Amino acid sequence: MQPQERILELKKERNAVILAHNYQLPEVQDIADFVGDSLGLAVQASQSEADVIVFCGVDFMAESAKILNPEKIVLHPETKSCCPMAAMCEPSSLRMLKNDFPRASVVAYVNTTAECKAESDICCTSSNAIKVVNSLESDLIIFLPDENLANYVQRFTNKSIIPWPGYCPTHEAITLEKIENLKDKHPLALVIVHPECRPEVIDIADAVRSTEGMLNFIRESDAEEFIIGTEKDMLYRLSKEFPDKTFYDVPGAVCPTMKLITLDNVLAALESLSPKVTLSPELMDKARTPLDRMMAIGRGD
Ligand code: 13P
Ligand code: SF4
Repeated sequence: MQPQERILELKKERNAVILAHNYQLPEVQDIADFVGDSLGLAVQASQSEADVIVFCGVDFMAESAKILNPEKIVLHPETKSCCPMAAMCEPSSLRMLKNDFPRASVVAYVNTTAECKAESDICCTSSNAIKVVNSLESDLIIFLPDENLANYVQRFTNKSIIPWPGYCPTHEAITLEKIENLKDKHPLALVIVHPECRPEVIDIADAVRSTEGMLNFIRESDAEEFIIGTEKDMLYRLSKEFPDKTFYDVPGAVCPTMKLITLDNVLAALESLSPKVTLSPELMDKARTPLDRMMAIGRGD
């Protein structure tokens, strides 16, 4: 029996739902019940009626699903699938920065550990970061952990943002030179980039969107060709949704840890009901408040 067939059987037996991020391997996207961006996946997780959530994405996404569903079993098929940017913010260093700026509100991009979320006032994703920051009363904001996203949000607010010096290695690999080369080769293509990209890349983009926001932009655009400034397997999702449009990826834009989730480990997770995401109830309670506040604000792109 093919792993796909056995996964479908087990999914029914366990009353499980499979959620996959837009950067997952094509074959993993194909067996998922829902494929989306971090916000979409968090919303799906919070509304799910399944007993088991199999989360195909990196650690912080699976943790958020567990925090939003403390009673459910949340499986993360490969625990080594971690976001290096989320690991760049240590809760102890964050507490020191908060002490230095006691008036500041703390906005945590969801790409953070549960411990950092627990230290924050509100979370955001790339789809609603501007809306979240502008919703706050404070005019001083500590924004973690992505410096590029913080600087992008700064373009759309009068508040002063103190960025955390973190970055995404995958989006750092998307350079101005690479985008200019692609534009030379495909002069009719529009450039859509993720806000985790470098500022000089954002400057020459036609649109800056979260991964799901990219789909919405393309749906409404008359253009037929697009240069996609984000992780390469986003193009699988785009090509499936828009078979008549043409997409160009940026060489080297790969998130290696997203690729650690495979059909084999999804199957093994469903068979054994492990590895389970486990967090202490106290930590989950503290981290849930900023996540709930973000969900109440909704999508911004
Ligand atoms: P999205 O919320 O746009 O899916 O981004 C998540 C992420 O990790 C981007 O690198
Ligand atoms: Fe983290 Fe970057 Fe991978 Fe997104 S693409 S999960 S931010 S390392």
